Amino acid sequence: MGADQKTQFKIDRLKCIRCGRCVDTCSGMVIEFGKDGYPKMKDFERYGWRGCWRCQHCLAVCPEGAISIFGKKPEDSLPPPPPEMGSYMERLIVNRRSCRRFLNENVDPEIITRILRAMAAAPTGGNSCSVEYTVIDDKGRVHEIWEKAYSKMEEDAKKHVYTHSFDDFYYGKMKESEKTVRKDDLLFCGVPHLFIAHERCVGKWAEDCKVNCNIATAYFELLCNAYGLGAIIMSYPAEVLNELAEEAREMLDIPRDHYTKLMVGFGYPEIRYARGVQKDRSAKIHRYTDRWEIRNEN
Ligand SMILES: Cc1cc2nc3c(=O)[nH]c(=O)nc-3n(C[C@H](O)[C@H](O)[C@H](O)COP(=O)(O)O)c2cc1C
Repeated sequence: MGADQKTQFKIDRLKCIRCGRCVDTCSGMVIEFGKDGYPKMKDFERYGWRGCWRCQHCLAVCPEGAISIFGKKPEDSLPPPPPEMGSYMERLIVNRRSCRRFLNENVDPEIITRILRAMAAAPTGGNSCSVEYTVIDDKGRVHEIWEKAYSKMEEDAKKHVYTHSFDDFYYGKMKESEKTVRKDDLLFCGVPHLFIAHERCVGKWAEDCKVNCNIATAYFELLCNAYGLGAIIMSYPAEVLNELAEEAREMLDIPRDHYTKLMVGFGYPEIRYARGVQKDRSAKIHRYTDRWEIRNEN
């Protein structure tokens, strides 16, 4: 089977202006001009580095909407964001924050579906798209997992047994937090839903796989904030599930060899914030132009 058929790469010749943008942006470098002057796909061995990356850049870049691939039609794509998106994103990022108090209510499933649909576009190394998302979208199920994990954690704490990052001091602090910020629940902060990006991390790309998961986690958290949901990225509960509460970990149904260092709790926030915070990270930015000016001044 030829590459055009394999990928369902199709050019609408009535629309194609032969500008070559598809050739110039193809991540896998498998599009070329054919003898007839129209773009075509070169034969390739297999998807990924030895062929088409399945990135769909060809479909996205074509100014005339002349390219379809994998049965996806250009008219079904979302348009690019408007120019004012930059300032909206800035407001979103400055106003996003961790939420640790949630309403005991399921989120409208339609919102979760929309967020997950957008998550398909989160970047992955080599466009592997191999990250999996486990979403516990029923608060009853989250509660069952929580019950098992929480009781095991408490039982162990009585014996001064903790996860690798915890000890008497940190556990004591977390216990104290149940009176205010983590209302009654130092572990899951009472979240009704959980999201876990996970991937099997083996071989020479193992580190990339972990990064894929972490990027997905960050995108998910941001999307939750964009939809007015509260979200909290959590490493400690993931530690408890991975290191102490075997039974609760199994309830997630995630294979043991998958990276699961972070989870996101999300739901409707109990508290709404009135403004953004003003974190100052200027000391952590190493900007070349600033250094250049300093060097010239001296
Ligand atoms: C890698 C990572 C792990 C985190 N783990 C936890 C956690 O276990 N429990 C928790 O309450 N918050 C956790 N957080 C949230 C941070 O504490 C929070 O982002 C930080 O205090 C800054 O607050 P902000 O998110 O409101 O800006 C984690 C955040 C990151 C990025």
